[in-house]
Amino acid sequence: MKVLVIGGGGREHALVWALRKCKRVDKVYCCPGNAGIAGLAECINSTDPYNIKALIDLVKCEWIDLTIVGPEVPLGLGIVDLFEREGLKIFGPKQQAAALETSKVFAKDFMRRHGIPTARYKVFTSYPEAEAYIRLMGAPIVIKADGLAAGKGVIVAGTYEEAENALKLIMTDRAFGDAGNKVIIEECLTGEEVSFMVITDGKTIVPIPTSQDHKRVFDNDKGPNTGGMGAYSPAPVVDNALQEIIMETIMRPTISLLAKDGIKYKGVLYAGLMIHEGRPYVLEYNCRFGDPEAQAILMRLASDITDICLSVHDGTLETASIQWKPEAAVGVVIAAGGYPGNFQRGKQITGLESITPSDDVFVFHSGTTFDNGSLVTSSGRVLTVTALGNNISEAKDNAYKAVAKIQFEAMHYRTDIAARALSNCP
Ligand code: AMP
Ligand code: GLY
Repeated sequence: MKVLVIGGGGREHALVWALRKCKRVDKVYCCPGNAGIAGLAECINSTDPYNIKALIDLVKCEWIDLTIVGPEVPLGLGIVDLFEREGLKIFGPKQQAAALETSKVFAKDFMRRHGIPTARYKVFTSYPEAEAYIRLMGAPIVIKADGLAAGKGVIVAGTYEEAENALKLIMTDRAFGDAGNKVIIEECLTGEEVSFMVITDGKTIVPIPTSQDHKRVFDNDKGPNTGGMGAYSPAPVVDNALQEIIMETIMRPTISLLAKDGIKYKGVLYAGLMIHEGRPYVLEYNCRFGDPEAQAILMRLASDITDICLSVHDGTLETASIQWKPEAAVGVVIAAGGYPGNFQRGKQITGLESITPSDDVFVFHSGTTFDNGSLVTSSGRVLTVTALGNNISEAKDNAYKAVAKIQFEAMHYRTDIAARALSNCP
């Protein structure tokens, strides 16, 4: 069969990598893909990945049997609704269900209405009212743009001035356009963050192994937030008892209460959680695999990803076999100089040839392209060097050994990915 992956980052490289292990997959396409993905799939650069009509034409033209959507933007545009209307098989939630990610106000109101644990909050559309509220509440406080803002629309403000600047950025400067028409101001929670994902066909809900992202750019969680500087799986902070609490108080109710509201959720549902005093609170929902969590998690997948996606599409997830390798995985993101601010592109990458790709060590490309035959950087996050190990400590060593072989000008990466997991290990 033929499968199309939409997107062009490390998560999509990991999806393509997993698809290439499936016996019945003859060909993988990726739109737009990147230089790493090009080694495993046919990259489609001529079609805009946000032009759904063009994607439908592509799928029909190439007789593609299944499409897997990596990023949130096409899901927010309703790609699943439009593909299904054409009778095409696609993995991901429909537009209304994706609103859990595309509108933070929708998500917060849903959680409040149904008693799903989350930080207390208020929504504002007027700058003076929002400003008066942050003055009243004081810092620390969290300011969030309602809509999609490529991971930049959340500001955890440590002082009143930071909170005011965040409000100005979103409401006055309109840095995120219409995504900032509404602003959420919410209490700042402390604790340990965890990425908890499930896969669901709307009826059966299967937990995916836990993972943890590293949002801040520098070691020891210093510096601005990024799209994610590395991930590990499993996250030892979530033991079996806590996993059951998360399933019982967050994941199952989210999917069943959405269904009660007439919205069937199919695909991957991601809850970004804060474990505060032993209890989980939802910081955000995403309607897709996390990036870079997917790179670590998919390396642990022992089952056929096509079977899983098709069973979600067909509503037969209950009978699907989803097995995970017992090994731990660690993925280290190597970023371009300047990231997450203005970063440089076009820097030549060397050293990859000295890393033998295997089931245990793989360099997923997040932002690379070819320039006159040489591999160069093309975005802020460039590579996710991912490795398995018998435990997190071994996986971390294996990942960093591979990282040490890679060079490009002004590259940077965190040296403490998974360090927190090691301090949490019993
Ligand atoms: P989000 O995009 O909603 O996941 O937010 C980005 C990051 O902001 C999260 O990963 C947290 O580190 C932080 N964050 C979001 N909401 C809160 C909150 N209520 N309290 C503390 N930190 C938060
Ligand atoms: N790693 C967080 C995200 O994918 O949104």
